Amino acid sequence: MNITFLLNGETVELADVDQTATLLDWLREDRGLTGTKEGCNEGDCGACTVMVTDEGGAKALNSCILFLPQLHGKAVRTVEGASGPNGEAHPVQQAMVDLHGSQCGFCTPGFIMSMVASHANGATNHDTQLAGNLCRCTGYAPIIRAAKAAEEQTVPVWVKDKPITTPAASPMLPGSSDELAAVYSENPNATLVAGATDVGLWVTKQLRDLDPVIFLNRCEDLKQITITDEEIRFGAMVDMNRMGEALAGHHPSYAEMIRRYASVQVRHAATVGGNIANGSPIGDNPPALIALGATLHLRKGDERRSLPLEAFFLDYGKQDRAPGEFVESVSFPRQVDRLKTYKLSKRFDQDISAVCGCFNITVTDGNITQARIAFGGMAGTPKRATHVEAALIGKLWTRETIDAALPAFGKDYSPLTDMRASATYRLETAKAMLERYYLEDQGEVTNVLEVSA
Ligand SMILES: Cc1cc2nc3c(=O)[nH]c(=O)nc-3n(C[C@H](O)[C@H](O)[C@H](O)COP(=O)(O)OP(=O)(O)OC[C@H]3O[C@@H](n4cnc5c(N)ncnc54)[C@H](O)[C@@H]3O)c2cc1C
Ligand code: FES
Ligand code: FES
Repeated sequence: MNITFLLNGETVELADVDQTATLLDWLREDRGLTGTKEGCNEGDCGACTVMVTDEGGAKALNSCILFLPQLHGKAVRTVEGASGPNGEAHPVQQAMVDLHGSQCGFCTPGFIMSMVASHANGATNHDTQLAGNLCRCTGYAPIIRAAKAAEEQTVPVWVKDKPITTPAASPMLPGSSDELAAVYSENPNATLVAGATDVGLWVTKQLRDLDPVIFLNRCEDLKQITITDEEIRFGAMVDMNRMGEALAGHHPSYAEMIRRYASVQVRHAATVGGNIANGSPIGDNPPALIALGATLHLRKGDERRSLPLEAFFLDYGKQDRAPGEFVESVSFPRQVDRLKTYKLSKRFDQDISAVCGCFNITVTDGNITQARIAFGGMAGTPKRATHVEAALIGKLWTRETIDAALPAFGKDYSPLTDMRASATYRLETAKAMLERYYLEDQGEVTNVLEVSA
C-alpha cells in the first residue's frame, strides 16, 4: 500500500508501507524524530501524543496505537513541529517554561502536543483535555496553569495544518461503505481496523501478525450522525468525542459517561462500531445503548439486517456476526430523557469500567410503566437485567418497590471476581446503582465526589 500525508508541513510519500507499522515506531526509528516518546505503548500515558488534522479538524492522538495507513491524506504534527520555522516557541511551550511545567521531561512532549491541539481548537477544559497525559514528577497544577496562561495567545500560523487531497491508496483503504462491503466480501477473513484502540494493542502487546487488514477510517458515510423526530442514529465510524457531543443535549448522563471513557486521545480514535463489534463485556456503550432500546444495523455485501443490540452478544467472545459482515450503524428511538448511566472504575478518568449500570425507567402517574436496565461488567457479555425489570414494571415508584426488586439482581447476574472488582462487590454496587437512580429521582444528592460535612 502506498500512502501520502503531511509531516510537520512537508509531504511524505511511503511505498509498500507495513500495514501495521505504528506511527510512533516509524517516527522514532525511520525518521529519527525521537521527541515523541514511548511510555506504555498501549494508549494509556499520552507520552506519544501527536496532533493529526483531517477533515474533522485538529485532534490529539496517541501515535503508539495509530497505524501508518490510517494517516493517508492527513496532516501530522509532532513535538519537533510545535515550534516555528525560526525556532520560535509555541505559546504553550513558552508558558510551560515560564510556569515550571516540566521536571524530568519525559512526559512533556506529549503534554505539549495535547496542549497544542486543544489550543488550536480553543478548548479551555484543561482537566479533561489533559486527562490522557500522565506526569508523575511535575504534578498537574503548573501544567494546567501553563495551559490557562496560553489560552489568549494567537494560534501560530505554522500549526494550522490542513489535510491533503489524495487518490485512493488501495482497496484495503475503502472510501465508502459500498467499497468496504465489496472488499470485505472478497476478504471475509480480513481484520477490520476502525480506531485501532483495541487492534493497536493486539499488535503492540500481543505481537500478532495481522494480514489482510481493511481500514475503515476513510468511509465518510459511516461517520454520519442522524437525528430525526423518531430516532438517533450513529454510523459505525462515529468516534467517542463526536458521540459525546451529539448526546449532550439528549441524554446528558450518557454524554458524561463518555467524557470518562478513556482520554481525549483515545476518544478521538475509538468508534462506536468498534466498541460494539469487539464484544467486550466491559465496553461502555453497549449497556447504555441497550437501555435505550437500540437496534444494530449490519451489512454483508448488498445484504442488510437489523437486530436488537442485546441479541448481538451471544456469549463471551461470541457475537452474531458472519464472516464478511460489518456494523454499519446503531440507532435508538427518540425519547424524553430518563436515562442514567453509572460508570464505576478504580480511577475517575482514563479507566475501564468495573461495573457500568444503565437505567431507563418510565413512571406514569406514580406507576412504573417501562423499565430497561442493562449492565457491563456483570456477565460475559453486556446484559439486560430482565428479572429486575420484571420486578419493577407495574409497581408503584416507591422505596419499597426498589427494595423488593434488589434480590432479582442475583437472578440476572453471577459476576466474576477479577482484578477490577470482586463478584460480591459487583453485585452490591449494581444494587446500589438502582437505589441511586431512585434517590436521584427523589431529588437526593448522590454525587460521591462531593464531600459534605
Ligand atoms: C487506553 C485505553 C482506554 C480505554 N478505555 C475504554 C473505556 O473507558 N471504555 C470502553 O468501553 N473502552 C475503552 N477502551 C477500549 C477501546 O477504546 C474500545 O473497545 C473501542 O471502542 C474500540 O473501538 P475502535 O474503533 O478503536 O476499534 P478497533 O480497535 O479498530 O476494532 C475493535 C474490534 O472491532 C472490529 N470492528 C471495528 N469496527 C467494526 C465494524 N464497523 N464492523 C465490524 N467489526 C468492526 C475490529 O475488527 C476489532 O475486532 C480503551 C482502550 C484503550 C487503549
Ligand atoms: S506510549 Fe503511552 S499512550 Fe502511547
Ligand atoms: S515531567 Fe517528569 S513525569 Fe512528567
